[in-house]
Amino acid sequence: MGGITFYLFIVLTFTGVLLMYYYHPSKVQAFRDILYLEHDVPFGKLLRNMHRWAAHLMVIAVWLHMFRVFLTGSYKRPREFNWCVGVILMVLTLLLSFTGYLLPDDQLGFWAVTVGTNMARATPLLGTEGPFGQQLGMTPFNDVRFALLGGSIVDANALLRAYIWHCIAIPIIASVFMGVHFWRVRKDGGISGPAPVMLESEIKEQKGPRPVIMKPSGTQ
Ligand code: HEM
Repeated sequence: MGGITFYLFIVLTFTGVLLMYYYHPSKVQAFRDILYLEHDVPFGKLLRNMHRWAAHLMVIAVWLHMFRVFLTGSYKRPREFNWCVGVILMVLTLLLSFTGYLLPDDQLGFWAVTVGTNMARATPLLGTEGPFGQQLGMTPFNDVRFALLGGSIVDANALLRAYIWHCIAIPIIASVFMGVHFWRVRKDGGISGPAPVMLESEIKEQKGPRPVIMKPSGTQ
C-alpha cells in the first residue's frame, strides 16, 4: 500500500505539472482555465480527471497503508520513528487535497475552504477563538486563519496562497519526508513480515525472530 501511495504521488506530480501549463491562480482566470481544460484542450478533461482521481485514491491508499502498518504491529520498535514520519506524511497528503480543492475557484471549493479555514479560528494559541488565543493578542486580522488566507475572507490572496502551498511548498516538504521514510524502511531492516514458518526438522541454530514451528500433521 505504501508503494501504491508513492506511485499515486508520482502520477499526481506528473499530471499536476501538465495542469500548470494551463492554469492561472487569479480570480479572473482560474475558473475559465478549468472550463478551457474541460472543453477545449486536447485530452484536457482526461488530464484533469487523472489528477482528481489520483488525489482521491492517494488519500484512500494512505489510510489503508496506515491501517496495514497498524494491523501488523509495524509501528512498534524499531519502526516507531517511521510511524511518526508517516503521520506527518498523512497530514501533508490531506493538506495537499485541501489546498487543491480551492484552485478551480468554483462554489464547491470556495465553501469547503471557507468552512475549513473558519475551523482554524479555534486553533489553540494561534486562533482568535481558540484557547488562550485572545490572551496572546490574536484578532481576526493577525491569527492563523488570516495567515492561511492572506486576508480575512476567502479571496484572491487565498487563491494565490493555496496555489503556492499546493504546487510548490507541500510537494517539496512531502518529498523530503518521503525520502526519510524510505531510508528508514531500509534502515529498520526492510518491510516487516510475519515470522518465518518452518518445519521442526528444518530448524538449525539461528539468530533473529523465533520461527513459527509447523508440526507435520498427525503428530502431537
Ligand atoms: C505519502 C504517504 C506515504 C507514503 C508514500 C509511504 C510509503 C511507504 C512505503 C513505500 C513503505 C514500504 C512498503 C510498505 O510497507 O508498504 C512504507 C512503509 C512504512 N510506512 Fe509508509 N508511506 C506513507 C505514509 C505512512 C503513514 C501515514 C504511516 C503511519 C502513520 C506510515 C508508516 C509506515 C511504516 C511504520 C512503515 C514500515 C512498515 C513495515 O516495515 O512493515 N507511512 N511506507
